[in-house]
Amino acid sequence: MWKRPVVGLMLLGLAEAVIPPGPFFGFEDRVDAEVGRGPDDGNLQTFPTTQAATVLAETLPLDHFGNYPGTFENRYWVLGQFYQPGSPVFIYDSGEGNAEPNVQSRLVSQTSFFRQIVQEFNGIGILWEHRYYGASSHVNISRTTPMEEFRWLNTAQALADIPAFANNFTLSNFSSIDLTPASTPWVFIGGSYPGIRAALVRKKYPETIFASFASSAPVQAQIDMSVYFDQIYGGLNALGFKNCTNDIVAAIKYIDDQLSKADTAAAIKKQYLGVGADNNSNEGFAEALTYIYNSWQSYQVEGTLASMRLFCDWISTNPETGAVSGEEGWAKSKGAKFTSDRWATWPQFGALVNYYAPTSCAGYYGNSTVGSPNCRLDDPSSSPAVISWAYQYCSEWGFFHSTNLGPNQIVSSYNSLKYQQDICNRQFPQGISSGLLPQQPGVDKINQEYGGWGIRPSNVFFSGGEFDPWRTLSLLSEESWAPKGVKLTQDIPEEGVSTATDEVFGYLLKGASHCFDFQTTWSDGANSRNIFTTALKKWLGNFKKKTN
Ligand SMILES: *[C@@H]1O[C@H](CO)[C@@H](O)[C@H](O)[C@H]1NC(C)=O
Ligand SMILES: *[C@@H]1O[C@H](CO)[C@@H](O)[C@H](O)[C@H]1NC(C)=O
Ligand SMILES: *[C@@H]1O[C@H](CO)[C@@H](O)[C@H](O)[C@H]1NC(C)=O
Ligand SMILES: *[C@@H]1O[C@H](CO)[C@@H](O)[C@H](O)[C@H]1NC(C)=O
Ligand SMILES: *[C@@H]1O[C@H](CO)[C@@H](O)[C@H](O)[C@H]1NC(C)=O
Ligand SMILES: *[C@@H]1O[C@H](CO)[C@@H](O)[C@H](O)[C@H]1NC(C)=O
Repeated sequence: MWKRPVVGLMLLGLAEAVIPPGPFFGFEDRVDAEVGRGPDDGNLQTFPTTQAATVLAETLPLDHFGNYPGTFENRYWVLGQFYQPGSPVFIYDSGEGNAEPNVQSRLVSQTSFFRQIVQEFNGIGILWEHRYYGASSHVNISRTTPMEEFRWLNTAQALADIPAFANNFTLSNFSSIDLTPASTPWVFIGGSYPGIRAALVRKKYPETIFASFASSAPVQAQIDMSVYFDQIYGGLNALGFKNCTNDIVAAIKYIDDQLSKADTAAAIKKQYLGVGADNNSNEGFAEALTYIYNSWQSYQVEGTLASMRLFCDWISTNPETGAVSGEEGWAKSKGAKFTSDRWATWPQFGALVNYYAPTSCAGYYGNSTVGSPNCRLDDPSSSPAVISWAYQYCSEWGFFHSTNLGPNQIVSSYNSLKYQQDICNRQFPQGISSGLLPQQPGVDKINQEYGGWGIRPSNVFFSGGEFDPWRTLSLLSEESWAPKGVKLTQDIPEEGVSTATDEVFGYLLKGASHCFDFQTTWSDGANSRNIFTTALKKWLGNFKKKTN
């Protein structure tokens, strides 16, 4: 069927993972990368859940703030084997996906940073599943889930689940011990969106959560997150791939020019993704081109069989001579079409698109006489976690990964802000008319409610990676539009005392990307975690029981 072998889904691994268009938080990759596993490494030992940790569920109200009587079962898993009375409860927040894979990677694996912290403190470890993800939902999430079922999926309700759960927490093995926050310090740990929650939950519920570790937490909600790609551009250059970025910038100009005319637009889509690809919008095609960057935040240039290193090696090598280009790249001497053709013929590209989008495009090497069964790049997602997360960013957080216009532009102009909004409207056709989704994400409301750049809850440690695309909206941001003169300090603040707004208690991991301090294989990660655990030991000395 194929003119030559292509890298298939199997080799890319995680065949069932379907990541949507729109803001890429990389839940699946994060889970893998955090335990030092590439998505191509499928042979990790797995345990039945019951052997690893007990799966339990707590009945929680869907509506913490009104009178709606509905409830749902929220799943969680408990690691109790290290517990000694008087020690803290640690809650690891899994975030916007099925939490079950984290049973292995967070509670069971000896290399889990979370398990190590729980053990170090003789604590109890809890893995928490977020409402509307995995099995912690009152309704099955699909493309046809009625809009009104999403009413209780928002930041405030999901945060309120934590005190409702913690204040009623018991373990049968330790039934005589009051494990609720009244007598036991609770510590909240999360990275990425859960990192945001780590900061927010300490701010909103300081009586419940005593301290938090907020890794790679973009606490400032913002619609335009085109800077996501600037971070990748800068990171690639810092790692010595200037020839690659120069060529990508040139290729993108060429691609945009081709897309601007109907006949050449159809031709270039077919060239990259095969027969049937020409039927897609320029915008959908532009979004598909960005999938080459998806591995960056969790793996930088390594990690997957469609890694940035493999892509850049391909782009930078002249197939006729085997020569590798100098810093200026090939496009300058050979023309941008040369580089675009290289991109189109990268053997992994078709499989990569099919991995991230719900498509089965033939790709460059497909049979040119047969149309693809499904190369519709413009289709909404059918994956439950993707739908729930889309609802969250479309309603509240924004984070639209639109093109980074300007001299470092590595994404087609057709991936515009408007197109990113269209993704929301397409995923939830009744969203706006139902009154549930705003015309655009309600970022101002979120920032007012929780503080955005100004959030400084006490007893919270903020960490981040130098080249993490999400650093740009975190308290470690150095973007031109972020507050100026904010000093990062490793001096441990007093227990219960917030830093001033021109100071952040945290740590920047040089050369690192997204949540790298949760990877025990990243050497600097231990430095970051040690600052937190040292601070926690100090703060715990000041914990006061609210009961006798
Ligand atoms: C392409 O598909 C057609 C129809 O199935 C088949 O006849 C033809 O041999 C295929 N060509 C190649 C090169 O695989
Ligand atoms: C409770 O105790 C039993 C028996 O010792 C043990 O198998 C189980 O793992 C414990 N559960 C927790 C949550 O610690
Ligand atoms: C979700 O779907 C499964 C399988 O079809 C079904 O067993 C289950 O009852 C459904 N759950 C809800 C809450 O509707
Ligand atoms: C607390 O837990 C008990 C038993 O696990 C349950 O019966 C009760 O309804 C819970 N209370 C709340 C407020 O969730
Ligand atoms: C191309 O797109 C049009 C309009 O969306 C659709 O009706 C048609 O079926 C598509 N054709 C193919 C081959 O997918
Ligand atoms: C050029 O490309 C090669 C292959 O990707 C890369 O290893 C090398 O670091 C690049 N050199 C420069 C100067 O950009």
